[in-house]
Amino acid sequence: MAKGADAMDISLKLDKLKELCKDCTDSICRQKEILVVSHVDADGLTAAAIICAALDRHNIDYKPLFFRQLDENALEEVADQGADLVIFTDLGSGMIQEILERNLQAIVADHHKPKACPAQPLAHINPHLVGADGANQLSGSGSAFLLARALASSPGANDDLAALAVVGAVGDLQDMASGQLIGLNRYILDIGSRAGAVHFSRDIKLFGKQTRPVYKMLEYSQDPYLPGLSGKEDACIAFLKEVGISLGGEKWRRWIDLSQEEKASLVTAIVQKGLRNGISNIRLERLIGEVYILLKEREGTELRDASEYSTLLNATARYGHAGVGLEVCLGDRDKAFNEAHTLLGQHRQNLVAGLKLVSKRGITPLNSIQYFDAGDAILDTIIGIVAGMSFQMADRSRPILAFAQNVEGDLKVSARGTQDLVRSGLDLAHALSLSAQAVGGVGGGHNVAAGATIPLQAKQEFLEKMDRIVAEQLSCKNNIK
Ligand code: C5P
Ligand code: C5P
Ligand code: ZN
Repeated sequence: MAKGADAMDISLKLDKLKELCKDCTDSICRQKEILVVSHVDADGLTAAAIICAALDRHNIDYKPLFFRQLDENALEEVADQGADLVIFTDLGSGMIQEILERNLQAIVADHHKPKACPAQPLAHINPHLVGADGANQLSGSGSAFLLARALASSPGANDDLAALAVVGAVGDLQDMASGQLIGLNRYILDIGSRAGAVHFSRDIKLFGKQTRPVYKMLEYSQDPYLPGLSGKEDACIAFLKEVGISLGGEKWRRWIDLSQEEKASLVTAIVQKGLRNGISNIRLERLIGEVYILLKEREGTELRDASEYSTLLNATARYGHAGVGLEVCLGDRDKAFNEAHTLLGQHRQNLVAGLKLVSKRGITPLNSIQYFDAGDAILDTIIGIVAGMSFQMADRSRPILAFAQNVEGDLKVSARGTQDLVRSGLDLAHALSLSAQAVGGVGGGHNVAAGATIPLQAKQEFLEKMDRIVAEQLSCKNNIK
């Protein structure tokens, strides 16, 4: 938990956000049906699910609608619904002006950098508005949770929904920079923990602890990338035997099946192997961190682990099946869960193929950025994930940009940086927004991760602008120091 001045700071920010939430609960409770508009990723799905569950508990009907991004076309579709009240979650803060221009009665619970706007909707809940960073202090599902908490019919009645907010924050990688959830996210984690919905502890951070055989968990390790193990099935099996860990008999053993002693000796052996292979201490430290267990979910399923849960959700919404992910969040453990599972298999294959493509085509360095262009070989809805994963193994001294053609024939851009670069002045949301705007596109997001959509033929001009703006951002801060 945060100490002293930090705790005070968080508590002040929280009070302001709670105040914003309280102001709009009456308007919500007056409605018979509400349109819930959200983003097609794990954070967007959990954010929508939190609001839908809270409305359900008040017997208010809801209609969910999901978008890849909230642009003019999307807003047109929202306006066409003719809803008396719209709750936007995990998007909207960059489009307040446009929302108001359409005379929509709206509440926005988001965490993206807001664009300046003189007028405000019924309520605008966003960490940036109280001085907190939306990249790592509060996710879209976190903002939605604060609103759901204010809506609770009795104190604490919606606290169980904190588990979904943790899944959303982890899905947006908000725990990455510090190895754990911090700031306002931590407050939500504590609520979830007190409600008996979430458990947190230090453990190995590799993906697949609940569902993958241990050797597969090692083989698919991307963050950190483990030389000699990542991508090498036989080497992983041999390594486990060397460490004295049985792979299992009829059933492969997963991480959760190992004893504490086995886990400890495996971590030690991985660290030793990593050091022998020249991986830095800093990268190896990322091997251990805080992990989040959803206590109400069945052991050995994706839903038990926040990271696996968020990947399962991404496998639905990013492929046009947001409804399936939403049903899973709302408790379907049968039809929707099975469907999500099938989609997950395909999602995994797409990610593996995407990573292979990047390593085959290579990443082109410019002065202050680097990029790859996937053409139409990687879906625009997962190009950001592939960019983030590729970046783990790439040069981390400059941000990475990835291009993918979308179905409309435009170019989707995804950009990822590091916390070190952000400390040196990098603000990808600002850089992408400026560069995209200059070539007739739109962009935004967070300092460390942002995205844009631009015309196909504008790539070169966009790259030049980005390269120059990022150079300026990094040199400005360095000059001030
Ligand atoms: O749209 P949204 O805000 O929900 O997405 C945030 C994106 O930023 C996620 O795709 C996540 O992967 C990325 N991110 C990142 N590194 C961080 C924080 C967020 O790559 N430290
Ligand atoms: O799509 P991707 O994961 O790369 O998006 C990174 C971040 O940039 C997300 O927070 C996303 O919501 C944001 N973004 C945006 N405007 C766009 C595209 C992405 O704000 N046009
Ligand atoms: Zn988000």
